[in-house]
Amino acid sequence: MEAKTCEELESLRIAYLGRNGKFTSFVKKIREFPVDKRKEAGATINEAKTTITNLLASQKNKLKVTSRTWFDSTMPGEKPDVGHLHLITYAIEEIARTFEKIGFVRVRYPEVEWDWFAFESLNMPKDHPARDDWETFFVDSPGHPKYGQMLLTPHTSSGQIREMQRVHSKNPGLPPIRMINIAKCYRRQSDISHISMFHQFEGLVIDKGISIAHLKGTLDYFARNYFGPERKTRLRPYHFQFTEPSFEVDISCGVCNGKGCKLCKEGWLELGGAGMVHPAVLKNGGVDPKKYTGFAFGWGVERVLMMKSGLQIPDIRLIYGSKLEFLKQF
Ligand code: FA5
Repeated sequence: MEAKTCEELESLRIAYLGRNGKFTSFVKKIREFPVDKRKEAGATINEAKTTITNLLASQKNKLKVTSRTWFDSTMPGEKPDVGHLHLITYAIEEIARTFEKIGFVRVRYPEVEWDWFAFESLNMPKDHPARDDWETFFVDSPGHPKYGQMLLTPHTSSGQIREMQRVHSKNPGLPPIRMINIAKCYRRQSDISHISMFHQFEGLVIDKGISIAHLKGTLDYFARNYFGPERKTRLRPYHFQFTEPSFEVDISCGVCNGKGCKLCKEGWLELGGAGMVHPAVLKNGGVDPKKYTGFAFGWGVERVLMMKSGLQIPDIRLIYGSKLEFLKQF
């Protein structure tokens, strides 16, 4: 009898070799043999048992081989659905890598901040109208005796003072600071170029003799390395409470190369704010403004990504819309 399946083979094994199988009953019958024949009967039964055990094993192997031949290696494979990182995660990694190459240290400061770090220490006292631009989400909590109310971090500039304090607490002589703080920010805004949760990256450099020339050199380095070798930046006078002088930074348009087109109008696109760190801010961070100077800049990761040549993202809200048709393009 030949088994056609593993189940049939197993029933045969039980029928012959199982606890109540044929061989058990043969062994029991040995007692009925004359004493001088029992040894011979035992040896015959053992021999038969070995033969059957081997037969069952070889049939098991055969069945395994037969089931393996069912695998058709010529059938097209099923492609697993492999995901990828979000495009903002890629952008953050690329921005961090670009600055790390010139010695910036990446840090990430809290998503929930105290009023003092976000405003007060940056020259924006309570009720100052400049605060209005940040459209802040304040947290309904008792507050801190020194640092004031709690809020969702409205800009990465709050990391400036935190970084000065961190470096200063480790080494009161204050070594040079080269920080790149990339973190989430929150504002009460939503339209095609604003979203309520976005990311900013904030550069801060403090050392002896730092000037606007260093700021401009760093911005041009970033423009060339992130956007392309032909891109340039320009500084326009502006006002921020925490930098003096302050600038808006523009980048030459990637579509018309600075000549002026439908997208940019005059050849330039606005990137974000920058300036020389205000002496009062240095003081608040424990840095002596007579010895040290510094520059800072803070831009939006989403906006910077949207300005990359070849990317046509018409609405910033698409980035976080969780629409797979959109996200799978990247
Ligand atoms: C600031 O937040 C300043 N802290 C920047 C700064 C840092 C100036 C250091 C000087 C020195 P502003 O509010 O313009 O500035 O925001 C900077 C950038 O963040 C904008 O140019 C934009 O790219 C991005 N941004 C601001 N609000 C939003 C928003 N709601 N959605 C998406 N991106 C935003």
